[in-house]
Amino acid sequence: MPSITIRNLDEETKQALRERAARNGRSMEEEARLLLSQLRDHDKKPEAIFASKAWSSPATAIANAQITADPNLDGKRILLIIGGGIAAYKCLDLIRRIRERGGKVRPVLTEAAQAFVTPLSVGAIAGDRVFSELFDRDDEHDIGHIRLSREADLLVVAPATADLMAKMAGGHANDLASTILMATNKPVLVAPAMNPAMWNHPATVRNRETLRHDGIRFVGPNAGEMAESGEAGTGRMAEPMEILSAIGGIISPDLKPLSGKRAIVTSGPTHEPIDPVRYIANRSSGKQGHAIAKALADAGAEVILVSGPVNIEAPRNVETIHVQTAREMQKMVETALPADIAVMVAAVADWRTENTADEKMKKQDGKGPASLRLTENPDILKELGHHGKRPKLLVGFAAETEKLAEHAKAKLERKGCDWILANDVSPSGGVMGGDSNTIRLFSKDSSETWSTMDKQSVARQLVNRIIEHFETETVTV
Ligand SMILES: Cc1cc2nc3c(=O)[nH]c(=O)nc-3n(C[C@H](O)[C@H](O)[C@H](O)COP(=O)(O)O)c2cc1C
Repeated sequence: MPSITIRNLDEETKQALRERAARNGRSMEEEARLLLSQLRDHDKKPEAIFASKAWSSPATAIANAQITADPNLDGKRILLIIGGGIAAYKCLDLIRRIRERGGKVRPVLTEAAQAFVTPLSVGAIAGDRVFSELFDRDDEHDIGHIRLSREADLLVVAPATADLMAKMAGGHANDLASTILMATNKPVLVAPAMNPAMWNHPATVRNRETLRHDGIRFVGPNAGEMAESGEAGTGRMAEPMEILSAIGGIISPDLKPLSGKRAIVTSGPTHEPIDPVRYIANRSSGKQGHAIAKALADAGAEVILVSGPVNIEAPRNVETIHVQTAREMQKMVETALPADIAVMVAAVADWRTENTADEKMKKQDGKGPASLRLTENPDILKELGHHGKRPKLLVGFAAETEKLAEHAKAKLERKGCDWILANDVSPSGGVMGGDSNTIRLFSKDSSETWSTMDKQSVARQLVNRIIEHFETETVTV
């Protein structure tokens, strides 16, 4: 079994490993373990691989050139509010990682948090005392809660429980954590963690919309298994490295080119029901849309991915909303506004059945097949193009099987979007469901053809174009 001691790697290699780990949302140890496991298939010594940096190929380096590295938090002050959830234990690791990068952590524990982690261990790892009481005789002589909220560069709430989010959205201030959050004039980042049913509860959905509207930044939650046995879905707290990366994006925005930008991405097909067991669908796999959502998040954007039914995993560090039909997708996109960027990749069904049968439609002998009456689905891209809250950059996809340029240009005009990425989805090309794509990008006054590449590279190329677009954006006064 190959092995390596990270401590013994030279500084440059260590830094490259750190950057790679941060990009992938893993710890250095996890990243190194992954690389080592790949070595098993090669006749190479680990030292050779790490020393030669064969694992950091120039292609990867170029594609990720715009994407940030591990943040330097030198002297930055993070007020970390720990809520009462199982994921509180991950905060010990988060604190360690912030401090490793030069940051200072001042911990605040809710009463419930103390049932999950002890003030003693949090304080010892943070190297600072832990605050938890609002009415603290030692602290409140100089209105300590205001001081705490101001003596920080950033407030991080992790895990952000359903309860804490509700308090924040409702403007409650009945304990130290919520009072600090009300009193602060600093940016706030929340890392929600809760059971998927709690995350999808209409109250939480309302609260997170309110918080977003109030300018609160989110990292996660991720999809996966829950601590409760047999439960799975969206609700796992983002990993410490992901939270760290989000902290870096806010505190050192120069590090991530799309930090502070909010993006909506749609992906996958839609399923339009005919009856309880049948539906109209298409061959979209969601691979391209998901890859774009991930690349945007890697570049620092806060990303909401509205996904139709797909068989691939939702990217980490992206809030994924699962929908079935075009109308559900339309509603969720509308709810996710406002946004700076919208990339509409989903293959939304143009039509749905006029009436969905409540019972399974039966085959009737001698009567021939049932006829389906179709009606038009909402045109989400067009609606966005003419919306009062139109995203600053609106990108659509055009899946064409003929007259690609002609159709793409017409679509650009008709839908009121800024760019159309056209791809030929003729069955011979294998784009639908496949792993690569050949794109032509049309804007109002130009077009360009990209070479055939895998869908991740298409995503990174698009994100680099988006970065360029915002860098050259003209500010008019
Ligand atoms: C074992 C256990 C695990 C819990 N995990 C979570 C959780 O992950 N997310 C959450 O929102 N609430 C969770 N709760 C409920 C919260 O602890 C409860 O709502 C509490 O009032 C939150 O207080 P706080 O928001 O002030 O920290 C859990 C409760 C228990 C008993």
